[in-house]
Amino acid sequence: MSSYTCAVLTTSDKGSRGEREDTSGPALRQLLAEQGFTVAGHALVPDRIEEIRQAVLAWVDRDQIDLIVITGGTGLSPSDVTPEATRTLLDREIPGMAEAMRAASLLKTKNAMLSRGLVGTRGRSLIINLPGSRKAALENLEVLLPVLPHALEKIQGSTRDCQP
Ligand code: MTE
Repeated sequence: MSSYTCAVLTTSDKGSRGEREDTSGPALRQLLAEQGFTVAGHALVPDRIEEIRQAVLAWVDRDQIDLIVITGGTGLSPSDVTPEATRTLLDREIPGMAEAMRAASLLKTKNAMLSRGLVGTRGRSLIINLPGSRKAALENLEVLLPVLPHALEKIQGSTRDCQP
């Protein structure tokens, strides 16, 4: 079981105005808690680059939370800005993790190719973009769950050899 901390950010204009219930954020928190993560933060912000940036900066640079999961705003609507906000925060992208989510999701829906979500690191934290619907967010995160402990161990400087 993991002893890492995580935080979940939902980006949604409608959610932030109280016009749509956020079901993705709570479901992701539950899934991560079941995996042994300590949920150290959660928030809902509108689809605005600066609001997304400030939430993540506080969790990473101030609180040093290990894993940040952002759900929503990865698609093609004019308001979808999560990848743009995330890109400004990353030291290093991990394209393979984002590609793995899209590849697995393509087996479920062709619309998977419409998600522009990024994955990468900022300092000792891993940041993951997920689509906004509860179903899509869970399906995408489930693809990454098996590698999260090893990824976090490496990001945080472990020099232990990788298992084959
Ligand atoms: N991935 C999975 N696994 N399951 C889904 O239902 N929905 C897709 C895609 N990825 C989906 C998925 C759809 S319909 C869109 S538009 C994009 O994610 C972007 O979603 P977002 O704009 O809510 O971030």
